[in-house]
Amino acid sequence: MNPTSSHKIKGRSTANDVFITPIEIAKQQINLHNINEGELWLDPCRNNEEGSYYKNFPNGVSKDWCEIIENKDFFEYNYKPDVICANPPYSIIDKWIQKTLELCPREFSLLIGIGNLTTKRIELIENCGYGISKIKMLKINKLYGLSSIILFEKNKKSIIEYDRKVYRV
Ligand SMILES: C[S@@+](CC[C@H](N)C(=O)[O-])C[C@H]1O[C@@H](n2cnc3c(N)ncnc32)[C@H](O)[C@@H]1O
Repeated sequence: MNPTSSHKIKGRSTANDVFITPIEIAKQQINLHNINEGELWLDPCRNNEEGSYYKNFPNGVSKDWCEIIENKDFFEYNYKPDVICANPPYSIIDKWIQKTLELCPREFSLLIGIGNLTTKRIELIENCGYGISKIKMLKINKLYGLSSIILFEKNKKSIIEYDRKVYRV
């Protein structure tokens, strides 16, 4: 199959928010996290009970999940997870990040296109007390551009710097 092109994405009439993460990639994301026994881990959009993330969360942690198609809406979740680990629905990424920040986890990770890591989003997340502690880049043939797994930790200094100015040249 050809890699997804920006042309095809622009031509979509509906958002394509369901992408089942290969287990190998979900495990890489899980392994970026700091694992503390007994903490509550949330997969906010596990898709199904065989969910790539939920099923592979580490031993010794408590686990919870949401999934809209099973009537468990992340936006209605109000427990206090320590860790949120997800491949989120891309078309509502800003609302998703906002809800993630409201839940105030110790750390959270996102699998998103590297182009979705905008300086505006980094600023918003840093203003809530999180820093980017790890970034792992990877190419997934079905997704546009380079993908990235990004770990955000509370009270950590980001490993990257950014400049919010738009340079008009
Ligand atoms: C990119 S897919 C990832 C699926 C699965 N976590 C995986 O990685 O294989 C995004 C998922 O978010 C779910 N979703 C969309 N809106 C949601 C919401 N408000 N609450 C919970 N899940 C939602 C979709 O149904 C879809 O299963």
